[in-house]
Amino acid sequence: MTIIDAPVRELTVDDLPKCLDLARDREWPAEAAKWLLLFDLGEVFGIDDPAGGLAATAIVTHQGEELAAISMVLVAARFNRRGLGRRVMTRALAAAGADRTTFLYATELGRPLYETLGFRAAGGVETHTGTCPNGSGGARTAPAADVPGIRALDAEVIGVERRPLLDRLLGDLANVCVVADGDRVTGYAVGTPGETYTMIGPVVADDPAAARSLIRGVASRAPGSVRVDLRAGEAELSGWLAADGLPGRSGATLMVHGDRVLPGDRTRLYAPIGPALG
Ligand SMILES: CC(C)(COP(=O)(O)OP(=O)(O)OC[C@H]1O[C@@H](n2cnc3c(N)ncnc32)[C@H](O)[C@@H]1OP(=O)(O)O)[C@@H](O)C(=O)NCCC(=O)NCCS
Repeated sequence: MTIIDAPVRELTVDDLPKCLDLARDREWPAEAAKWLLLFDLGEVFGIDDPAGGLAATAIVTHQGEELAAISMVLVAARFNRRGLGRRVMTRALAAAGADRTTFLYATELGRPLYETLGFRAAGGVETHTGTCPNGSGGARTAPAADVPGIRALDAEVIGVERRPLLDRLLGDLANVCVVADGDRVTGYAVGTPGETYTMIGPVVADDPAAARSLIRGVASRAPGSVRVDLRAGEAELSGWLAADGLPGRSGATLMVHGDRVLPGDRTRLYAPIGPALG
């Protein structure tokens, strides 16, 4: 069998080492914890390299009946421009289903492929990384009593109830900060520890000042460096984050499939969970 005939198949968690090898091949970090979460929550597709290892991957993660995120679209560099990216993406799109609004965060390399498949740009993010000094203030951590309020706020802003994803994110409340108006949760942010940094997101807030306080709250409790993918166009907040020790650099383009619009009130979403989950 040649790579042209090799079918797209559904991968299992046993394929994790091959997925990490493929990530390394494209100079992406080998983030086992993130892949494991995506294996758990999503459908992972891949194409085997007949010579061994994986030639391509793509993951679709359903968020309720209405939304789907596609991520980890990777083709081994040795198979560039042989149509593998299109094949795994077509399979992931079919798994997302025509009834769902499907979105992804595109790298510069991925964007031309997604455009040919009917995705269009709908915004972007700027990646901020660094460390925030301990005890630098910010929002308070969330008590268990805030969880229903966080769930309700997330559903309002994202436009769907995204459990079980949210339950995973809220699994350790020591990594979750909130701002509230009396008993009503008006903002929250989550830190997810990873191999190289703690990913901060989502960040949901009423205004940039509250978003900064939430990001500082999570970052100042994180053990090492943090990353937050700030919505593009937030010049003031971007400057504040740089002053807090988290300088920004270019990020990714948010793309939505077809003529759909993402549901919810996205004006309050300052940062997604991360590029894989939105
Ligand atoms: C992006 C990536 C997945 C593309 O995979 P691929 O297998 O090379 O893409 P395909 O061969 O299926 O391309 C299909 C079409 O997309 C477009 N396309 C893909 N890569 C392109 C590029 N670098 N420049 C311009 N158009 C491109 C073309 O229209 C292409 O058709 P053509 O070759 O007949 O002109 C691959 O380059 C990759 O893994 N990059 C590194 C990781 C990455 O950035 N992934 C995207 C994450 S969002």
